[in-house]
Amino acid sequence: MLCLQLLLTVGVAVAESGIDAWLRYAPLPSSSSHPALPSHIVALNTSMNNPVHIAGVEIQKGIASIFGKNLSVASQSQQAASSIIVGTVSDYAVAFGHPAKTPSLEPDGFWLNTTGEAVQILGQNERGALYGAFEYLSMLAQGNFSKVAYASNPSAPVRWVNQWDNLDGSIERGYGGPSIFFENGLVVDNLDRVSEYARLLASIRINAVVVNNVNANASLLSPANVEGLGRLADAMRPYGVQVGISLNFASPTANLTYGNLSTFDPLDKGVISWWTNVTDTIYRRVPDMAGYLVKANSEGQPGPLTYNRTLAQGANLFANTLKPHGGILMFRAFVYDNHINESDWKADRANAAVDFFQGLDGKFADNVIVQIKYGPIDFQVREPASPLFAHLQNTSTAIELEVTQEYLGQQCHLVYLPPLWKTVLDFDMRVNHKPSLVRDIISGKRFGRPLGGSAAVVNVGTNNTWLGSHLSMSNLYAYGRLAWNPADDPQIMLQDWIRLTFGPDPAVMKTITSLSMASWPAYENYSGNLGIQTLTDILYTHFGPNPQTEDGNGWGQWTRADHTTIGMDRTVSNGTGFSGQYPAEVATVYENISTTPDNLVLWFHHVNYTHKLHSGKTVIQHFYDAHYDGADTAQTFVTQWEELKGKVDEERYNETLFRLTFQAGHSIVWRDAIANYYHNLSGIADSAGRVGKHPWRIQAESMTLDGYVPYTVSPFEAASNATGIVTSSNSTTGTASTMLNFPNGTYDLAVNYFDMIGGTSRWQVSINNRTIGSWIGDNVDTGRLGHAPSAYLDAHSATRITFRNVTIAKGDVLKIVGTPDGIEPAPLDYIAVLPKGVVD
Ligand code: GCU
Repeated sequence: MLCLQLLLTVGVAVAESGIDAWLRYAPLPSSSSHPALPSHIVALNTSMNNPVHIAGVEIQKGIASIFGKNLSVASQSQQAASSIIVGTVSDYAVAFGHPAKTPSLEPDGFWLNTTGEAVQILGQNERGALYGAFEYLSMLAQGNFSKVAYASNPSAPVRWVNQWDNLDGSIERGYGGPSIFFENGLVVDNLDRVSEYARLLASIRINAVVVNNVNANASLLSPANVEGLGRLADAMRPYGVQVGISLNFASPTANLTYGNLSTFDPLDKGVISWWTNVTDTIYRRVPDMAGYLVKANSEGQPGPLTYNRTLAQGANLFANTLKPHGGILMFRAFVYDNHINESDWKADRANAAVDFFQGLDGKFADNVIVQIKYGPIDFQVREPASPLFAHLQNTSTAIELEVTQEYLGQQCHLVYLPPLWKTVLDFDMRVNHKPSLVRDIISGKRFGRPLGGSAAVVNVGTNNTWLGSHLSMSNLYAYGRLAWNPADDPQIMLQDWIRLTFGPDPAVMKTITSLSMASWPAYENYSGNLGIQTLTDILYTHFGPNPQTEDGNGWGQWTRADHTTIGMDRTVSNGTGFSGQYPAEVATVYENISTTPDNLVLWFHHVNYTHKLHSGKTVIQHFYDAHYDGADTAQTFVTQWEELKGKVDEERYNETLFRLTFQAGHSIVWRDAIANYYHNLSGIADSAGRVGKHPWRIQAESMTLDGYVPYTVSPFEAASNATGIVTSSNSTTGTASTMLNFPNGTYDLAVNYFDMIGGTSRWQVSINNRTIGSWIGDNVDTGRLGHAPSAYLDAHSATRITFRNVTIAKGDVLKIVGTPDGIEPAPLDYIAVLPKGVVD
């Protein structure tokens, strides 16, 4: 106890696992002065286990932790003075009479008044009161004691997250460990993490979680799982978070206890009564279920088109069963054919959403919301806003974002996403030549819709960091803030998150702001530029680079790159016609290459590599320069972070350093793969002479090999010089040695190797028999990194480890000994001997 007190007083950072995320309520530095705190809390809750009760408990816990002051909580009090009063406006009026200023509140809104002797936190409903309590605590935890009196209302009623959790406990595109909701086909027994998740979500004003994968398993509807859903709802209800579920459209034919049908035709009477029965059954156990989410006729999922019924008829089937219970049907606009033919110049997946929803506006039941991914393809590093936002004017809509970084580094790369999201939320569709920001469309304001909002694919798991990485939690935090107020500023939200997550140290603030704000531009630079999409491997893991996978298949994420040209012609005049899906003013901008912004030029136009951008550079030179710039920026993340040693607790410091170091190495893998690929394809030299030139590298295959053999890597651009080395058998050690012919000096020694799933090889590197270091290929096998693994030598498994400040003399002999394990043959690509400041 004494030790702990001492640690707190001297301000030494205690190890933190990340589980408390931004709700740490860390003690404020003893130097910070604060005004007198109220002496007790009045929580006007009507029962235990409701959001107002939780609000009282949170305020008590928060104040005790931040200030070391224990306040009592009472549910009733005649004595309003010197209290923090939290409750609904109506309960406040009963207890104390109407508040002097009557706040104008919408459902879930709150009024926070710290100007009087008592602090008033009043919600329009109980959930709003809890949101207000978290707002107050967020201020205190950031050392903000200003006197405020304001109402805060949500921009839209739907502020949901989607989890893509499977019933077996795995998570589709999840990088933070297995599911907190399911295991072995059922809901987990211990729901502690579920409650903690609900608490986190409530603090950012998220009001519902769809708990299972959109690629839904019908057995979620079994009696045992309906009971499980009831338990999930019970665990989250105190936090004002409702449960929703994803449905499989063909469930009536899935042979469940509710009776097996031979059809899932949405107009079939038997099907309608089947779903009515299922819905009524679920609502008996979960009376406040938020609703359903449906992915239909997409990527192999069943849907109404199977029976020549419209998407609206399909959606309305569920909406009608939900209606008596007050539930909402989120119907995904992610409907497309994944077997389209690239030899058809006019074929275009980007057209799919508007094409499929053509003629359906106004045909959806009023409790349907069409959930639209931000861009027309699939969560790419840059996409134009989906034109469907402009088409659905008599239908409620929501934007779908992706917090889980499926195409954006899978939480192994720091990418702060709100600046990307804002390119869409703030985009003006100019419908009927009037301001039509996407954020005003989804809020319902622009077209006068009663419903609307946001959903984000989040995919937290059992990892203590939730998402797999400490820094990626800024994306979840900011998502909640944007769902509440899409006009919020990315940097301001980020800085609130930094203060709450890491404390008030200005150096910490400066560094994490700088890294995070530079991260999306850097990732875009070293992945896919000019609107060509992310250029990751779309046929396998969506993690590392593999540009050739975009073309030549039916998925339609095409680049149409050949030896001389690149880009999708999406013009009306000569291409797929996609630009014509936008309202006239926007369509004109994109139709015309001279008005299309550089960052989307290859999205809309098919051009020569030598085409000159507005910037004055050619397309190909922009690719080269951007890749070198992006990777250079990622190297600085490591050095910037290292300045925080001792300022962030060791656990989070080291885990973050590990990830940023990985990112710095992998950004070079990206840079080289993309630059080499297009250099090879176009045959056009890099005017700065960098591509393919590696003066500080020694290729593993050019070393003296004993027990190692060269291995041709595919795709070629995933390895330096297209070749790596592997041990000649999976059970014998290999040695690669080489003489170093660099001037005497101190260098960073980088070793590029491949970390595959299915084995944990060992490597040891020495110079003149002096051991420099050793490591194990365990980043993917132990889940330490958490990204989708690869069983091959490729750009997903390509990894760099760096030994710093190694003294090297000309003529020294470097030796690497590799010991294979499982299917992993201790693979190596190259070493780089790097003078200070050189990136190679
Ligand atoms: C992406 C993702 C899939 C997911 C799909 C969807 O294509 O890779 O895993 O099922 O989006 O949003 O439905």
